[in-house]
Amino acid sequence: MSLETDPAALALRAARPTTLCVIGAGYVGLTAAVCLAQLGHRVGCVETDPGRLRAIRAGHVPIEEPGVAELLAAHLASGRLRVTDDVAEGVADASVAMLCVGTPPTARGDPDLRQIAHAARAAARAATDHLVLVVKSTVPPGSCEALELLVAPERGDVRVTVASNPEFLREGRAVFDFFHPDRVVVGVDPPGSAELVVSLYPAAWPRVVCDRRSAELVKYAANTFLAVKISFANEVAGLCEALGADADQVLHGVGLDARIGAAFLGPGPGFGGSCLPKDVSGFVAVAEAVQHPARMARAAEAVNEDAIVGLVAKIESAVGPLRGVRVGLLGLAFKAGTDDVRHSPGLGLATALAAAGARITAHDPLAVVPQMPGLQFDDPYEAARGAEAVVVTTAWPAYRELDLRRLRREMAGSVVVDAVGVLDGAALSAAGLEWYGVGRGRPLGFHPVVTGPLEWALEGEPASGPAISGGPAGG
Ligand code: UDX
Repeated sequence: MSLETDPAALALRAARPTTLCVIGAGYVGLTAAVCLAQLGHRVGCVETDPGRLRAIRAGHVPIEEPGVAELLAAHLASGRLRVTDDVAEGVADASVAMLCVGTPPTARGDPDLRQIAHAARAAARAATDHLVLVVKSTVPPGSCEALELLVAPERGDVRVTVASNPEFLREGRAVFDFFHPDRVVVGVDPPGSAELVVSLYPAAWPRVVCDRRSAELVKYAANTFLAVKISFANEVAGLCEALGADADQVLHGVGLDARIGAAFLGPGPGFGGSCLPKDVSGFVAVAEAVQHPARMARAAEAVNEDAIVGLVAKIESAVGPLRGVRVGLLGLAFKAGTDDVRHSPGLGLATALAAAGARITAHDPLAVVPQMPGLQFDDPYEAARGAEAVVVTTAWPAYRELDLRRLRREMAGSVVVDAVGVLDGAALSAAGLEWYGVGRGRPLGFHPVVTGPLEWALEGEPASGPAISGGPAGG
């Protein structure tokens, strides 16, 4: 987002500007710190990594996030934002300390909370007056209560309480999302004590104030539902391929139902990124801990794992055995607008194809992947050169502008699998390319006519003849 084009965001002010501390200047913490300064707060941002600290102090943003650099420069200059590696300095005079450190998944799928525990203890030790620790990171329900117990020995006579205030920022749109939230969720116990956290944000923003376990679960449930929606769209897309239907049309028709909504119904190579996969496995781990079956979340994960398997099978059906076959991949970032390749479908596909013996060449406008199982080029046509098949795995707008005739000339074969639906099917065909997709494009198999419901008619009408009248209302 360019802030010049969003004057409404620049005019927003916190209900009650205060002094606060943000611990962790990663993607969530740095975005929160600069946006909170913009809302009128005095923010002390704590970052212990020396390289990152130096960069931020010099106004360099170590993340690819539109709007953050402008706000960082503005508030380093205004003095409303200070960056330090000393928690005590960050917490001095602060009434709130936001914990924005990493919660990477463990091998079991649940988040590793050591960094957050460490940050909470350090903040509690540094507190000189009543301090509210606000947990922004995604943590299992019960974590805020556990943190409050954990910090008790550190805080002396000073009151330190813990609140949950999960973030819902999307990578690449985090500043926009910060200033235009669908809701601010604040979890506190007792619920009456939410005022301090609620008033960190503009009074007009929609809010949900609840107990801490519920607030913690909102984040897991919201991301798991988004994952379920995507996996459902991919399941429908698979059915469309089997039936010879068009997934774009089907899901468009489904998404127009206001009860369902069109967002996150896009079929593709599966969901990736640092949040959705982690939060779905976190949801499952939380459920397992209380013997809850979490069937929907598990199904969303299983369908997502099948997405890459399905793409490999599709490419193999189109070009034949993969050993020694050259495949060009367009897109390594987990989605357009970011250089993040964590749980990226493109990288997952590259790894799976390479394991099947294919030779991989790849392009991405932003992401650079040192551990690529193949070669990465700066130019998409070079990545396509000599390829039997080209697969588009990230919906970068630049790929819409590809010269498809040139692409055809560069390739050795003619198969294009557009897993993200950015290319025009008719234009691909006109350029002499074979168009495959997820639930769209050329069908791979033979689709038998579905005669089941009409079988009685083909076999002859029942003796009494069918009644012709309106059926029951509804479905
Ligand atoms: C997500 C949540 O949206 C955000 O609220 C949370 O705070 C962090 O996790 P992010 O990881 O930035 O944000 O990505 P998002 O835009 O949600 O996309 C997630 C994945 O779903 C991407 O791989 C994307 O390509 C995929 N996706 C999205 C689909 O496959 N189909 C869709 O229709 C939408």
